[in-house]
Amino acid sequence: MIEQSFRAIYGTTPDVVARAPGRVNLIGEHTDYNDGFVLPAAIDRSIDFAGRKRADRVVRVHSLDFDGSVEFSLDDIRKDSKKTWSNYIRGVSKYLEEDGQRLSGADMVFGGNVPREAGLSSSAAVEVGTAAFWRKLLRLELDPVYLVKLSRKAENQFVGVPCGIMDQFISALGRENHALFLDCRNLSYRHVPLRDDVKIVVCNSGVKRALAQSEYEVRLKQCRQAVAQIASTSRAVKSLRDVEPADLEAARSVLSKVLFRRARHIVTENHRVLEAVKVLEAGDLERFGELMNASHVSLRDDYEVSSKELDVLVEVAWKQPGVLGARMTGAGFGGCTVNLVRQEAAEAFAEAVRRGYQDALGLKAEIYICKASRGALSI
Ligand code: GLA
Repeated sequence: MIEQSFRAIYGTTPDVVARAPGRVNLIGEHTDYNDGFVLPAAIDRSIDFAGRKRADRVVRVHSLDFDGSVEFSLDDIRKDSKKTWSNYIRGVSKYLEEDGQRLSGADMVFGGNVPREAGLSSSAAVEVGTAAFWRKLLRLELDPVYLVKLSRKAENQFVGVPCGIMDQFISALGRENHALFLDCRNLSYRHVPLRDDVKIVVCNSGVKRALAQSEYEVRLKQCRQAVAQIASTSRAVKSLRDVEPADLEAARSVLSKVLFRRARHIVTENHRVLEAVKVLEAGDLERFGELMNASHVSLRDDYEVSSKELDVLVEVAWKQPGVLGARMTGAGFGGCTVNLVRQEAAEAFAEAVRRGYQDALGLKAEIYICKASRGALSI
């Protein structure tokens, strides 16, 4: 597919193709930038790249999804204020060059089926896909985790979005039929098998994440403030990862009501992830589902990042036969829910949620029954 597009645009065959998946987070939301734990899976939707070396230092990129092209020189990589879709590619290329990798000019095309602004990390897939593309094209011997960090840096510093490391990490290091348990403090990770008699069903509310960036920044600041205030009352804590429920109780009087609730979400969510990994490994999917449900309630009431649409999708899901757990996934304020559903019930579940959402809000949800997939840089 992507090879054919390359041929149609550039009239020749590509040297390499690379592919980076989107992701869905099963549990561990807003914990990554608090040095905490997450459990995402890469999905079978990806952004694909094809390209060929050029003899000069010019990079030409064609986006299939935006039906547009850009051209830039590797000697002077700047942000594009109009074709902003190209900034993920520019940013990753710039930081590779700055780190001493000598890239070559290239003709590239990219596109895929990760829905945009739906909270399934299409931007991380573009960043990680770009890194995978350069690695393959130039046979660079670069460590996957190094490229994950560089991709995140492109998003944080070049594009200007202050995300954590989860999305780039899972897009790079996902594994087929597995979720990935990641400690965002020291980046140690392990893959946890998912049973094939349950399906990951993603329901897209269709609502673009309008407030997502500004509210995300507010949450980030609130977490930092909470840490500073808790540190004044209890033992040294560097981040909310270090805070135990007892520390939080002890700090209740110094925290505002809002900061207390924000911190409580992170503290309880970290505990939920740890238990979720344990019960998933033990095959107790009922308990895993309960933890997903509790995560939603905490995101809705304590962290306040859900939305009416996400709540309706989750409430409809909770009533369906065969559903083990349902929650919002990603940053919130629109985007998607993630549902764990017994295989035999998955089709009927999708239909019932579609109908329930339409009846309640007059809106159309897109539903994807996903398979956990391999990452772009998986070893
Ligand atoms: C976005 C960010 C991630 C993470 C999630 C919330 O997807 O990019 O780093 O913080 O939100 O869990």
